[in-house]
Amino acid sequence: MRVPMIAGNWKMNTTVDEAVRLVKAMLPEIDKVKGVEKVVCPPFVSLTSVAKVIASSSLKLGAQNLYYQEKGAYTGEISTEMLAGLCDYVIIGHSERRQVFGETDELINKKVKAAVENLLKPIFCIGETLAENEAGRTEEVLTHQFMATSNRLYFFGGMVIAYEPVWAIGTGKSATAEQANKTIGFIRHLVAHKHGEEIAESVRILYGGSVTADNIAAFMHQPEIDGALVGGASLKADSFVRIVSQTAAARGLS
Ligand code: PGA
Repeated sequence: MRVPMIAGNWKMNTTVDEAVRLVKAMLPEIDKVKGVEKVVCPPFVSLTSVAKVIASSSLKLGAQNLYYQEKGAYTGEISTEMLAGLCDYVIIGHSERRQVFGETDELINKKVKAAVENLLKPIFCIGETLAENEAGRTEEVLTHQFMATSNRLYFFGGMVIAYEPVWAIGTGKSATAEQANKTIGFIRHLVAHKHGEEIAESVRILYGGSVTADNIAAFMHQPEIDGALVGGASLKADSFVRIVSQTAAARGLS
């Protein structure tokens, strides 16, 4: 059985004070929800403060990025060593990193490797653009992104995959639950093809892109979808709490 997971990607939002307030506001209700793994990914500068607030709770912490080198002259970057021990998860290969910051599959692979080697679990993001989707190239693009970052050991390191169609991110236009289920089924098939059925059955694959408290239940009723990576709707305590509790309800956990 795959434990459902809801991860909030706060992106470049919240000051340290706002981050602490946000996590304090969501904590009491979220902590009551059992059977769902709950993760928040604030900006780097808030990780330590948020870690203190959630220390004795069921909420876990993730970073939004890392650099694969151990240390040295990489101005502005954060290493896995700095994050290890502080975070459980790290988002890698988000489409905003790929598109705005020009991250390549090769770089993303190095980052996933560095994360796993330092006991950080990657939330590895893949997804097609609108043009690729409309050209019927979704499966080809996902295959390419997956194969470029696909070492068997990554899965033993707890890698989670997030399928995030770029056209659905921050647009208010989510994929339908059926579409997302079908595409995530395809990704699971890729995992099986490359690494065998056992790994494919155990790896968690999330959907991301305009997930809200109003549409999460539909996604969670689909058999292939193991949870969600949530952007905008994770920035309000009540909507994130509702997403988490509806996930539990949809899976018969509450
Ligand atoms: P969104 O972002 O929920 O605001 O669409 C999702 C993401 O980018 O992870």
